[in-house]
Formats: sequence, C-alpha cells, structure tokens
Amino acid sequence: MPNKFKNIAESQITMSQLMLPSNTNFSGKIHGGFILSLMDQIAFACASKHSRNYCVTASVDTVDFLKPIEVGELVMLKASVNYVGRTSMVIGIRVEAENIPSGEIKHCNSSYFTMVAKDDAGKSVPVPGLILKTETHIRRFIKSMKRQEMKGDRKNEFKSTDFVSKAYIENLENHNIKLEY
Ligand SMILES: CC(C)(COP(=O)(O)OP(=O)(O)OC[C@H]1O[C@@H](n2cnc3c(N)ncnc32)[C@H](O)[C@@H]1OP(=O)(O)O)[C@@H](O)C(=O)NCCC(=O)NCCS
Repeated sequence: MPNKFKNIAESQITMSQLMLPSNTNFSGKIHGGFILSLMDQIAFACASKHSRNYCVTASVDTVDFLKPIEVGELVMLKASVNYVGRTSMVIGIRVEAENIPSGEIKHCNSSYFTMVAKDDAGKSVPVPGLILKTETHIRRFIKSMKRQEMKGDRKNEFKSTDFVSKAYIENLENHNIKLEY
C-alpha cells in the first residue's frame, strides 16, 4: 500500500440517538452497556472510514460515566481519529446528552477506542498516516502516545511472572483490606 496521509476531518463522525425506555437499567437511567455499544459502533465507523478496511476493537481506554443519561434525552456521539500506528488507530469519542425541552447539554463521557484494520482474510493491515493541522490535533496525538507508553509501563511492572509483593507491601497500608497472606 502506498504511504498515504489523510485529514482527520475526512473520517470524523457524529451520531445522534434518542434514548428510549427500552434502553434503561433497573434504576430507570440509560444502561451504561447501551452507551458502550453506541461508542463501539461509532469507533468502528470512524476507523473503517479512515482505513477503508473493516476494523476490530483491540482495547478501550477508560470509560468514566460522568453524568447519568435520562429517557427522552438526545445522545450525541462525536468521533475522530486521534492517533495512528502501523495497523492501529486510536479513536477519541465524546458523548453528550441534550435535554430536548430545555436545550441543556451535558458531557457524559469521553473515551479512547483502539481499533485495528483487517483485510478480508482477517490479517492486520497498514492504515494511512494522519495529517495534523492544529494544536488540538497535535495535543491529542501526543496524549495517545503517552497513554500507550503508560499502559506498556504498567503491563511490564505488574507482569505476573516478575511480580514480588514484598516490594509493594507498604503501599497497602491504610487500605480497606485484611492481609492474611
Ligand atoms: C487486537 C488484535 C487485532 C491484535 O492483532 P494481532 O495481529 O494479534 O496483533 P499485532 O501484534 O500484530 O498488533 C496489531 C496492532 O494492534 C495493536 N494492539 C494489539 N493489541 C492491543 C491492545 N490490547 N491494545 C491496544 N493496541 C493493541 C498493536 O499495537 C498493533 O498496532 P500497530 O500495528 O499500529 O503497531 C487481535 O488480538 C484481535 O483480533 N483481537 C480480537 C478483536 C475483537 O474481536 N474485538 C471485538 C471484541 S468482541
């Protein structure tokens, strides 16, 4: 594949969905799993548009539900490519909910989905590079790089084969635990 670079705007997507009573959990608020499913759909669409290949979700980095979403609110999801590697893309997703009568909009969630482009045989394939045009584009790209470095460090530090609890035992002081080890 030729080394091609694409604009972020080309694959940016916005999706709106009205929240129905069938999407609620036992407390009558919108089910977190339903919102996650919408986020996965928009991440897939955005990554597939950038790569022009079907994509799979490799990982989801931090999903904090900041505010509950109510029945009757209009949920808006915005997605754009924040980072690309060789075959992977990090899609930044922002979720907002609008109260239709008042017009009030609340920020409910921001999250980062890592998607990997696949060919028809299921093999990971290279994706186009990213054209960074603004301070925001550069900030988001570097933030993704840093997140990946931190994830790698954490994974190495807590490898089950190398972990020795003795080195960390003093960190457990003042935690809500009873150590019987
Ligand atoms: C994630 C997956 C595509 C990785 O593919 P792979 O061929 O084993 O892995 P590779 O080592 O070649 O990695 C491919 C890319 O994915 C990235 N990747 C792999 N695992 C990852 C993870 N857990 N988090 C973030 N990125 C990951 C790699 O960094 C690499 O990126 P790069 O090419 O931009 O450098 C593969 O494990 C897979 O298909 N998983 C199942 C995905 C799925 O079914 N999702 C839906 C869940 S229901």
